[in-house]
Amino acid sequence: MKLNVKNIRYLGPDDWRVLTATEMGSRNHELVPTALISQIASLRSGNGVHKCISNLAKIGLIAKVKNAKYDGYRLTYGGLDYLALHTHTKASTVYSVGNQIGVGKESDIYVCASETGRQLVLKIHRLGRISFRTVKANRDYLRNRSSASWMYMSRLAALKEFEFMKALRMEGFPVPEPIGQNRHTVIMSLVDAFPMRQISNVGDSASLYAELLSLIVRLAQYGLIHGDFNEFNVLVEEKTDTETHEVTLVPTIIDFPQMVSIDHANAEYYFDRDVACIKRFFSRRFGFTSDEPGPFFKDSIKTIVKRLDVEVEASGFSKRMAKELDAYMKEHGVDGDAGELEGGEDEDESGSDHVSDAESRHSEPTSDTPNGSPPAVEDAKPATALTSSMTILDIRDNDPLPSLSEIKPTPVPTISTKAAKAKAGWAI
Ligand SMILES: Nc1ncnc2c1ncn2[C@@H]1O[C@H](COP(=O)(O)OP(=O)(O)O)[C@@H](O)[C@H]1O
Ligand SMILES: [Mg+2]
Repeated sequence: MKLNVKNIRYLGPDDWRVLTATEMGSRNHELVPTALISQIASLRSGNGVHKCISNLAKIGLIAKVKNAKYDGYRLTYGGLDYLALHTHTKASTVYSVGNQIGVGKESDIYVCASETGRQLVLKIHRLGRISFRTVKANRDYLRNRSSASWMYMSRLAALKEFEFMKALRMEGFPVPEPIGQNRHTVIMSLVDAFPMRQISNVGDSASLYAELLSLIVRLAQYGLIHGDFNEFNVLVEEKTDTETHEVTLVPTIIDFPQMVSIDHANAEYYFDRDVACIKRFFSRRFGFTSDEPGPFFKDSIKTIVKRLDVEVEASGFSKRMAKELDAYMKEHGVDGDAGELEGGEDEDESGSDHVSDAESRHSEPTSDTPNGSPPAVEDAKPATALTSSMTILDIRDNDPLPSLSEIKPTPVPTISTKAAKAKAGWAI
């Protein structure tokens, strides 16, 4: 399910129409009949649709399926990726896509860039992706399941992440800047920092620890529990004061599809788990253990500042959507990084070379050594070093060319493709 954006530039307007028609048809057809695709797309040339279908199938954006009654096509993850990227490109949110910087069971992370060359992150939610641990259970389960559900659930996860990121950002929480959301994808600012997982030592572990725990408490005061607050989802940036040369560690919190309200039936359990993850990591990695107990859920929600859970529910991500996503994630055993870390790492207090599922599925180096000295952070590459090869998505206008008689001279000089690229800093 690797994203290969190379073909995106070669798709013409009719191809996009047919791809969109397949997506629309799949809302109520698990297998979209060819005739329906043709009807929805209603291309001017009747035969054109078959050529487009064959093009799209060749590059894996749709897949032919035969069933007992008829032949038809289904949209693939690749097709959905292309549709989302096409929308982001048209909205001028994304101009080019670069390397993958993260891979999870339920998401893929890529570096991308805007027209002006600003580096961004594209997060593609892949909720239908089968979990390593429950392959068999899921195989049986998915067989009886509408293929539309993975698209819908991945879209819900992306929408949820985006809505919470927006709300948190507005209240000044340290989260990436949300830039755009479409279908199962989210575009956000690239944080030039390492996941805490990759950091071998921090000068002042006590203050970073205090800051992270106070973030957990502050989230609760805003009606929320992250639900997956751990060393993978905390990015830590080193900032040096230009005058005093003092180095401070600035955390950014990412990954919100598991966020729950403080009203959730298991709210206290998730709160305690978030706290325990941070405590365990600081003790194992930095040898830091606080002598203060807590923080505790009940104390944290004594002072409610604002109910972001209620606000988000009212604005974009409804209670019904939250329930559907929650139920799906539970059924599929989606439990974030924290769920994976539990047990495996707990039993592993001596610190062996064992690499858990949660570690191996991330692209970061993961070699805790027996004496507990993790790799130096210099060994790892910051995300920005990975943007060397970018694929420009679409620099043409997809509308059909106008006839010569319609073309009028434009008084304002338009920027050429070459100049636009040069302006954005691309090698030509
Ligand atoms: N905005 C971002 N800036 C920099 N790196 C990011 C960003 N978002 C994600 N990453 C990288 O991708 C990894 C996975 O992202 P995450 O949102 O946690 O997805 P997953 O659901 O796969 O855990 C992170 O651990 C981090 O290394
Ligand atoms: Mg994560």
